[in-house]
Order: sequence, then structure tokens, then C-alpha cells
Amino acid sequence: MARAIRVILLGPPGAGKGTQGKLLQEQFGVCQISTGDILRKAVAEQTPLGREASQYIQRGALVPDSVIVNLVAERLKDKDCEKGFILDGFPRTIPQAESLEVILKTRNLALDGVLSLRLPHNVIVERLAGRRTCKNCGALKHVAFDPPTKQGICDRCGGELYQREDDREETIATRLKVYDTQTAPLEDFYRERGLLREIDGVGKVEDIRNRIDQVIGDRGQ
Ligand code: AP5
Repeated sequence: MARAIRVILLGPPGAGKGTQGKLLQEQFGVCQISTGDILRKAVAEQTPLGREASQYIQRGALVPDSVIVNLVAERLKDKDCEKGFILDGFPRTIPQAESLEVILKTRNLALDGVLSLRLPHNVIVERLAGRRTCKNCGALKHVAFDPPTKQGICDRCGGELYQREDDREETIATRLKVYDTQTAPLEDFYRERGLLREIDGVGKVEDIRNRIDQVIGDRGQ
């Protein structure tokens, strides 16, 4: 049986958090909570959350902490998170990280580690500009590094692949700035707690997967 893990995937836009998060989810059978995916679904469905979030996402800014913290706190109560979780895109600010500490403490849970994917800005821009996401199942592809068999069609489910609105050049620049000012300080936050594990995020998906394996131990068998 796969063992439980509770980890945070930290890293700039396009670092590969979603890609590696999905692999870890399959491997360990725990839930992957991508706040970005949850927000984009809400935007597509035009829920009150989606209407509020879309104005921030479109310009590359962060959605207010209170909105995000409530959303994650609720999601963590779901049955598929009982065995553990991969947090992808949360926390993203010091107040979010402090709130997460309270949530976990209340439930007597501890983090196994914070995996910080590191890579230079030029690689990030290349990855984001070529990213395509499935509208139906959320699978991630890349026009150059992992192209679909049929252009514009998801290999996994046959759904339509689309380019995210916030992957435009000017919005990418804002997101990178927001990351440097508001999210990068989390590295020190978790370093001080002995939880930070730095991972070289440059290379093939499988290479990075192996680096993560070395850091988190066995393959969960
Ligand atoms: P979110 O969806 O979380 O975006 P992000 O953090 O900017 O990260 P991305 O999804 O862009 O990248 P990723 O690291 O997952 O990379 P991926 O695996 O896709 O957030 C979007 C917005 O929502 C935010 O701007 C904000 O407004 C809001 N939001 C979300 N969470 C929030 C929070 N906590 N607080 C406040 N606001 C919040 O990879 C990218 C591409 O590269 C893909 O095409 C992939 O196929 C390819 N790729 C991946 N790995 C490799 C590799 N090793 N080699 C080659 N290609 C690769």
C-alpha cells in the first residue's frame, strides 16, 4: 500500500508543480490540491468564487488570502485527502502559510516537506508560452516538449487543448514579479522550520521526478 505523504510544491509559474503534482498524486494515491485548477474551474462555471477570482487571475495578481485559505481548508476535509495531500500553488503568501500551520495543527497533522522547484526565468517563459491544457480533464501538454499526438486534442480523453489566458507574455511578467515579491519569501519561512527541500527544476519531466524521489525517499510502495 502506498504510504501517506503531505507535501507542498513550491515554485514560480511554469516550474512544473502541476506536472509533478499529478505524478505524485498517482504514485501515492493522495489528493492533489491545485488552487489554480480550482479557481479556473470556478471561473469557467461562473460561480460567485469564479467571478471574484477572474479579475485577479486575468491580470496575474493573487486572489485574496481569506478566499484561498477557506477554499483549501474545506478541500482538505474531503475523503481523498485523508491519506495525505500534495499542495500545488498553495500557500503563496506568508499569511497563507501561517493559516495552513493553524489548519494542520488543529487536525494534528504535520508536513513531510516543502519541495521548491528552481529554474531560471528564460526556461519558465518557454514552458508557459508552449503550455496547452485539456479543457476536459486538465492534462498538461507542451507544444515543443510534450506535443499531443493530434494537434489541439488531448491524448488522454480526447478533450480540447487550450492556451491559458494568463500565459500571455505581459501577464507572465506580472506573475513572475508577484512570485518574487510575495511567494519567494516562503522559502525562508520553511527553511527556518527545517522543511525546505530545493530541487533543480531544469531537465526532463522524468529527471525531475527522480530528483523528487531522492528527496522524499522511496517510491511509496
Ligand atoms: P496557478 O494555476 O497555480 O499557476 P502558477 O503557480 O503560476 O503555476 P502554473 O500552473 O502556471 O505552472 P506549474 O508550475 O504548475 O507548471 P506546469 O506543470 O503547468 O495559478 C494561477 C492563478 O490563480 C494565479 O496567478 C493567481 O491569480 C491564482 N491563484 C492560484 N493559487 C493561489 C493562491 N494560493 N493564492 C492566491 N491566488 C492564487 O508546467 C508548465 C508547462 O511546462 C506545461 O506545458 C508542461 O507540460 C511543461 N513542463 C513541465 N515540466 C517540464 C519539463 N521538465 N520539461 C519540459 N516541459 C515541462
